[in-house]
Amino acid sequence: MGEVLVTGGAGYIGSHIVRRLVETGRTVVVIDNLSEGSEKALPGEVELVRSDFADRARLDELFGKREIRHVIHMAALALVGDSVSDPATYYRQNVVGSLALLEAAREHQVEGIVFSSTAATYGNPVSLPIDEEHPTRPTNPYGETKLAFERALSWYRNAYGLRYVALRYFNAAGAHPDGDIGEFRRRETHLIPRLLRGILAGEETVVPIFGTDYPTTDGTCVRDYVHVVDLAEAHVHALRALEQGGMEGESFNLGNGEGFSVREVVDMVGKVTGRRPKTEDAPRRAGDPPILVASAARARERLGWQPRLPTLGEIVQTAWKWHESHPRGYES
Ligand SMILES: NC(=O)c1ccc[n+]([C@@H]2O[C@H](COP(=O)([O-])OP(=O)(O)OC[C@H]3O[C@@H](n4cnc5c(N)ncnc54)[C@H](O)[C@@H]3O)[C@@H](O)[C@H]2O)c1
Repeated sequence: MGEVLVTGGAGYIGSHIVRRLVETGRTVVVIDNLSEGSEKALPGEVELVRSDFADRARLDELFGKREIRHVIHMAALALVGDSVSDPATYYRQNVVGSLALLEAAREHQVEGIVFSSTAATYGNPVSLPIDEEHPTRPTNPYGETKLAFERALSWYRNAYGLRYVALRYFNAAGAHPDGDIGEFRRRETHLIPRLLRGILAGEETVVPIFGTDYPTTDGTCVRDYVHVVDLAEAHVHALRALEQGGMEGESFNLGNGEGFSVREVVDMVGKVTGRRPKTEDAPRRAGDPPILVASAARARERLGWQPRLPTLGEIVQTAWKWHESHPRGYES
């Protein structure tokens, strides 16, 4: 089976993937600079290399001494707003940095790469639900940089035979049902953790609702929330497909195929926690499409992926369990 290198494995989604990989009997090495994420999110048997994922000398050392056959590339800068105000940093890390990793992987005979891509590669939807044939016209540098790397993967596959799976997540949410790993960023911009942390922080915390005049049922943005445990499972399926040799290189959507508005999420948070989050209506954010809902039919058919925790209730309940027991994240 060989070993698996996970970049960004100490982060929110990465830590759920690493745990699942260990459960399936794999040997995992994580490279993470801990700019986000935490060593405490990792199982004891996993080696953490605390470094930038694009550090060629560290990568050469690592590939030289380990039997790494597959890479799951999660580490990235992933804030849409920051990418608009500072595209240079996003191109440097998400494209130039990722190409350094790809070069190292190619030179050290890595067989396959699973890449964390995003619904932001599509831009404004022209049809719903969004399938993988939908045009890719990102509306921000974050989506552009993810798409650019997907394209690099495709050309590398053609030229050098390095196989890949690019997984385009919609809105990752929820936490491990055990309640011991979950989402906690220094600067939180995602809706569900913001609402839950707002409740825990107390009365004075108000969460803005960006845009209340969209052409949706209640005027707020509609998104497809997918449980982080289901995302983790999709990576195991992708890895298996690469190992079995039937997968040359392809992109897959990961979502539940059902959209929830911001107000519906606020209501669910109120129901699960028994406390009403404080929100205020705010102007739209630049580049936010009104509705993003996935068709994940391709992942079901070609990867055998089936979400196990598809309801918004399960997503918010597991997230609440984690936040309530870890009000200061891994420092709690
Ligand atoms: N959260 C979502 O809804 C979502 C949706 C679509 C795609 N994604 C993608 O999933 C991936 C993981 O996202 P997440 O939500 O878990 O974020 P996260 O910030 O929790 O995890 C990212 C991890 O990468 C590490 N990292 C960042 N830059 C690094 C560098 N230069 N060198 C080494 N490590 C570095 C961070 O320390 C962190 O542990 C990203 O690639 C993101 O673009 C996330």
